[in-house]
Amino acid sequence: MSRGARQALADSHAVRRMGVLQRLLREASCLTHHITANQASYEQTGRVRCGIDQLSFRILRCSRREIDLSVRSPDHREAGAMCVISRGRLSWRNSSGWFPMLKVLGQKLDDGRWFTASAERNKGPILALLERILPRTGLVLEIGSGTGQHVAHFARALPELNWQPSDADASFRESIQSWVRRENLGNVHAPVDLDVCRFPWPAAHADAVLCINMIHVAPWAATEALLTGAKDVLGDGGVLFLYGPYRRFGRHTAPSNEAFDTQLRASDPAWGLRDLEAVVELAATAGFALAEVVAMPANNFSVVLLKRS
Ligand SMILES: C[S@@+](CC[C@H](N)C(=O)[O-])C[C@H]1O[C@@H](n2cnc3c(N)ncnc32)[C@H](O)[C@@H]1O
Repeated sequence: MSRGARQALADSHAVRRMGVLQRLLREASCLTHHITANQASYEQTGRVRCGIDQLSFRILRCSRREIDLSVRSPDHREAGAMCVISRGRLSWRNSSGWFPMLKVLGQKLDDGRWFTASAERNKGPILALLERILPRTGLVLEIGSGTGQHVAHFARALPELNWQPSDADASFRESIQSWVRRENLGNVHAPVDLDVCRFPWPAAHADAVLCINMIHVAPWAATEALLTGAKDVLGDGGVLFLYGPYRRFGRHTAPSNEAFDTQLRASDPAWGLRDLEAVVELAATAGFALAEVVAMPANNFSVVLLKRS
C-alpha cells in the first residue's frame, strides 16, 4: 500500500473513531458541541461540552468495541480523573475505582479544599429552611457532606447546634476539615467515614440528619440504607432532611433535570433522579412521617421527614 493510501486509511479510521466517540457521547447524553482537530494528534485529543462543563479529553485506547478516554475540565486538578466509555457505557473513575461526580464537576483549590459553585448557590436557600425546621440545640449529622461548604456555612449560622459531617471519600473528609479549620468553627466534629450502606454507622445518636444531593448519585439501595440508618440514630420526632432534584408524580419537573437524569444513568445505570413520592412512600414504611415538601431554586426540592414515635 502506498504511503498516501496508508494515510488515507488511517484518516478514515480516525474519522470513524471520532464518529463512534461522538455517538457514544451523544448516547451518553453529553451535549457534544465540537471536537476540534489538533494537527499533530487529532484523533487523540479534543474538547467536548458535557453538561455545563467544557472538558478536554484524550483517547487512551481505542478498539472497535471500546473507547477509553481521559477527560478533565480545565481547572480540574485531581490526577487521574477519567471518564471511561466502554461498550457504550460512560462512567467516571480514578485509579482506585469509581470516581465521584462531585470531583468531576467540582474544583480542588490549592489548599486542598474542594469547591462547587452549586453548593455556594444553594447553601443560602437551604439554610433559610433549616433555620425553621431544625431543633434549636443538639447534634446534626450530615450524610455525604462532600466538599464541606454546606456544613461550614450552616455551622457558622447556627452556632448552638453541634455538627457531625461525614463522607465515605477520604479526600472529601480532608476538604471538610479544611473548610472547618479555615472558618475556625468550634461546633463541628471531625468528619467521619460514613457509607450509608455500611452498618453500623459510626454515629450512635443525632437530633437531625441531613442528606443533600446524594440520593440521585447512588443506587436505590443507598436510599433504603439511609432511611434505615437515620431511623436508628434519630429519636422520636427527629428530623430527616433531604434535598436534591426529584421527579414529581412520575414526571421530570424541568428539561434540565431530565438531561441531568439521562447523564447520571449513562454514568451508572443504578443512579438517577428518584420519584419524590417513592422516597416518601419508602420513608413511611421505614417509620417516617412527611412534614413538608418545599420547592427550592433551580428545580430542586427539600423533603422534611419526622421520625414517628
Ligand atoms: C453530589 S455529591 C453532594 C455533596 C454535598 N452534599 C453537596 O450537595 O454539595 C454526593 C455525595 O454523596 C456521597 N455518597 C455517595 N454514595 C454514598 C453512600 N453510599 N454513603 C454515603 N455517602 C455517599 C458522595 O461521597 C458525595 O459526597
